[in-house]
Amino acid sequence: MSTNSSKKHLITAALPYANGPIHIGHLAGAYLPADIYVRYLRLKGEKPLFICGSDEHGAAITLRAKKENKTPQQIVDEYHTLNKKAFEDFGITFDIFHRTSSQLHHKTAQDFFLDLDKKGAFEVKKSEQFYDEDYKQFLADRYITGTCPKCNKEGAYGDQCESCGSSLNPTELINPKSTLSGKPPVLKETTHWYLPMQNEENWLREWIEMGILEGKKHHDPKSWRKPVVGQCKSWIDGGLQSRAMTRDLDWGVKVPLKEGDGKVLYVWLDAPIGYISATKAWAEENDEKWEDYWQNEETELIHFIGKDNIVFHCIIFPILLKKHGEFNLPVNVPANEFLNLEGKKISTSRNWAVWLHEFMEDMPDKNDVLRYALCSIAPETKDSEFTWQDFQARNNSELVAIYGNFVNRSVVLTHKYFNGKVPALKQFPHEYQSVVDQMKSHIDSCTQKLENKQFREAQNEAIAIARLGNKFLAETEPWKLIKTDEEQVAKILNLSLQIAANAAIALFPFLPESSRSLLKMLGLEHVSWSDLASVDLIKGGSKIAEAEHLFSKIEDAEIQKQIDKLQAKAEPQNKVEVDESKIEPIKKTIEFDDFLKLDIRIGTIKAAEKMPKSNKMLKLQIDLGNEERTILSGIAKNYSPEDLVGEQVQVVVNLAPRKMMGVLSEGMVLMAESSDETLALLSPNKKVSEGSKVS
Ligand code: MF3
Ligand code: ZN
Repeated sequence: MSTNSSKKHLITAALPYANGPIHIGHLAGAYLPADIYVRYLRLKGEKPLFICGSDEHGAAITLRAKKENKTPQQIVDEYHTLNKKAFEDFGITFDIFHRTSSQLHHKTAQDFFLDLDKKGAFEVKKSEQFYDEDYKQFLADRYITGTCPKCNKEGAYGDQCESCGSSLNPTELINPKSTLSGKPPVLKETTHWYLPMQNEENWLREWIEMGILEGKKHHDPKSWRKPVVGQCKSWIDGGLQSRAMTRDLDWGVKVPLKEGDGKVLYVWLDAPIGYISATKAWAEENDEKWEDYWQNEETELIHFIGKDNIVFHCIIFPILLKKHGEFNLPVNVPANEFLNLEGKKISTSRNWAVWLHEFMEDMPDKNDVLRYALCSIAPETKDSEFTWQDFQARNNSELVAIYGNFVNRSVVLTHKYFNGKVPALKQFPHEYQSVVDQMKSHIDSCTQKLENKQFREAQNEAIAIARLGNKFLAETEPWKLIKTDEEQVAKILNLSLQIAANAAIALFPFLPESSRSLLKMLGLEHVSWSDLASVDLIKGGSKIAEAEHLFSKIEDAEIQKQIDKLQAKAEPQNKVEVDESKIEPIKKTIEFDDFLKLDIRIGTIKAAEKMPKSNKMLKLQIDLGNEERTILSGIAKNYSPEDLVGEQVQVVVNLAPRKMMGVLSEGMVLMAESSDETLALLSPNKKVSEGSKVS
């Protein structure tokens, strides 16, 4: 039953790369919040279209194929199937999980490119790039190795040296070699199609900061998450640039022009178009019109993603959609921050992850529990952390001890005292009005939080209904009253069962399987969000099923097994993964005089301590030769204070002092930040005297 407008919703979740399995960070980042929102909309009687699919192109996939002696198609077939199943297992209810290697997608992306090309959206520019003459192909940065110009170690890649971590350009490598033929590559001229993004800054700013598009109100900018808006602003402030939309590769969507022979569309003009092609595929199968979802202004487009995809979805894809015309821009992009695991960043290359398909093998009946645990710690406003202990505690002390216990008692007692028949009441037991009021207030907050896409808090409100019911039973103690006052017990159990039914509905978006079991137990089949707050959901006199446990306890040994498994499989950190599409562009050119304004010196850290109440900031004492300074630095997650004492670092010494957390910080310590947010101090590679100039 819909009380809402006829608005359509198109909900997308980032297309995962089909070059590896899905882990809990992916689930918590994009897919679970998207699914919760979609299930909520469906319960409200709306018909959202929920779209996803595998992103099956890119150099990472061809490299993996080469390493495993398979074809790229074999790799993507394997992971597409694995990931599709993992999503199903965790109740992620996509209307379609499509693929970018499909014909339909290739055609859609090519048409999109051609349309933009016709409109003059691209600049075609020539540049020199490495080429393998034996293999007759241009080489992606990762396909070139050589000696690192910074640390002299062999085996550095064209984009990065994994020994010293420096970012490189392929042309900087000493003795570059192609990984295909093993021979030195040659520089050869190549042509690419660039998107001049610098021309789009004005409308983008208006759209992101004020929610205004082409002079009209488009969305409420306050509904966007702060970190999302912040990241977009800082990109636009840094100046947008022309970016190549094509690559010299043979795996991908071919550039549909004669001059584009041997080239494919780069991820930005490929993967997000996958949302459109998936919609087309769904529409074909369901006898619907894809245009209703993309080209009808009444439809709300929402992209659920992780924060590494913000620029992609808030800047690049909107530019492409707007240049094309006719397409809707997203009304919201609820991006999540990162989920860490047992104190460390999740890392595919180090195998520091909980993989969904493995979780399913180890704990086949705990998929709902994982959803619950991940939503409880959803990284909505800042990074958060998954630990196995927390997972166990959420299961044992919340789901088992509160929700499960409440439901079980209500159902068991109804069987024991009333033969499994819901006691009929002549009128509502007014002595319990306050309990019902509390329940309603949780329901209202839950609805509000879901509308605001604050799923973590929404789930808290939903489980609070079960908590309320549990407390109600504990306080009214029907098992004591039964001997003296059966009529009162009837009232208590009727209300308990009504509360349980409310809990099942409110928790449905979060814990779909448990809710389904509970609703079945209570004899309720078709429910909707508008049923909530009623205390007459289960009719007096109706029969309920035997009690069944919704959840079961997880023992310490089982948790320890998971922790041991994680440690045992972890590989040492020897490489940092680079995703080229996520490297920040270079800022606007500055004059040499501007550079000279910076005064950077070498200092030695004399003392370091944690700032109270902050898990990010360290307070450093730095010796600069002729003076010592106090400087605050946000590196606490990457360095412990004792590791830092004695280290030489680069300090901007003429930066105006700033008071932070009550401490005057007199300068700034320079550091590198990799795309996974690991921070590294920039120490000179041999000891120099304190106060040495950096230039
Ligand atoms: N596969 C890419 C990633 O995971 C891109 C996903 S976003 C999409 O980062 F728009 F391409 F779907
Ligand atoms: Zn190096």
